[in-house]
Amino acid sequence: MTSDIKSVLEGLNRKELVEIANRKKISIPNNWSRSLIVELLVLNVTIDNIQQIEKKPSKPKITSEGICAIVIKDLVKKFEDVTAVDNLSLEIMEGELFSLLGPNGAGKTTTINILNGIMKPTKGTATIAGFDVTKSLVEIKEIIGLCPQEAAVFKFLNARENIELFGNLHSLSKKEIEERTDMFLELLGLAEASERKAGGFSGGMLRKLNLIIALISNPKIAFLDEPTVGMDARARRKTWEFIGSLKAENKTIVLTTHYIEEAETLSDRVGIIDYGKLVELGTPKELMERHEAKNLEEVFLSITGRRIMEGI
Ligand SMILES: Nc1ncnc2c1ncn2[C@@H]1O[C@H](COP(=O)(O)OP(=O)(O)O)[C@@H](O)[C@H]1O
Ligand SMILES: [Mg+2]
Repeated sequence: MTSDIKSVLEGLNRKELVEIANRKKISIPNNWSRSLIVELLVLNVTIDNIQQIEKKPSKPKITSEGICAIVIKDLVKKFEDVTAVDNLSLEIMEGELFSLLGPNGAGKTTTINILNGIMKPTKGTATIAGFDVTKSLVEIKEIIGLCPQEAAVFKFLNARENIELFGNLHSLSKKEIEERTDMFLELLGLAEASERKAGGFSGGMLRKLNLIIALISNPKIAFLDEPTVGMDARARRKTWEFIGSLKAENKTIVLTTHYIEEAETLSDRVGIIDYGKLVELGTPKELMERHEAKNLEEVFLSITGRRIMEGI
C-alpha cells in the first residue's frame, strides 16, 4: 500500500503535493524539494487524501466532431472468469444520442455502471465532461441522470411522490419539481396513473417512472439502460417520442438496447457491442451501407454470424 501511495505521489507536481500536505495541516518550507515532500507524505497520507485533490476536471476533449461528453479508453471489466467489457474505447459527443446495441450479456449494463461510478473498472479509464469516473463522483452526479436496468422506485409511494422525492434529493425548487413532473407525466402518458402506488405498476409503467426520475434534475447527460423493456408497442412508441424530444434540448443521451428498431429510430450513432467488444461504430446509415444491409439486424448478422435476439 505504501508503495502505491508513493507512486501516485511521484506523479504529482510540487503544488499538488503542498496542497495535500496543507490539508494534513503540515506546512512545507519553500526550499523543500519535491522528492523530500513525497518522502514526508508517504508517511502521513492515505489514498483518500490524494484523491481529494484530483477532482478538478481535465479539460473536456475537443475533436473535429465537437466536444466530447464522454471519453472511454481501453476499458476492461472482469468478473472472475468473465470479461464483461473487453478493451472498450469510445468517444461520445455533447448533444449526441448514442446507442450501445448488443445482445443480452454483451456488457452494456456493466459499461453504464462503470460510467456511473457504481462499479470500478479492472483496467482503463473513463471521463465524463473531463471528470474521471473513479475519482470525481460528486461532480459527475451533478451532471448525469441514470435510468437503471432494474426499476428503482419506492413501491409504497405513488408515482408523483416518487418523482418528488428524487427531485428533492437534487435540491430542486418545489415549483420546478411540480412543473417538470406534470410535463413528463403528460408526455409519457402516465398522468392518469400518477396518484397510484408504484407497487401496482406494470413493468412498462415502472420503466416510464424510472425515466422521469432519471430526468427530473434536468441532467446534461442521461444514461438510459434498456428504457423500453417490458413495454407494449404503443408505450414503446410514446417513449421513443419522449426520448426524441430530449434531443431537441441538446442533451447527451447514452442508451443501451437490444432492440434493433429502437437503435435505428433514435440514434445519431450506434456502437455495436458483442462479448464486451465494440465490433462496429457509426451512424445507422453508415453501418448499413458498410455491410450492404437493410437494417442493423443484418449488420449484426454480417459481423457475428448470429442474430441479436438469439438466445433471449
Ligand atoms: N456482478 C457480476 N458478477 C459476475 N458476472 C457479471 C456481473 N455483472 C455482469 N456479469 C456478466 O458480465 C457479462 C455482461 O453483463 P451485462 O453487462 O449485464 O450485459 P448486458 O447489459 O449487455 O446484457 C455477462 O456475461 C454477465 O453474466
Ligand atoms: Mg443490461
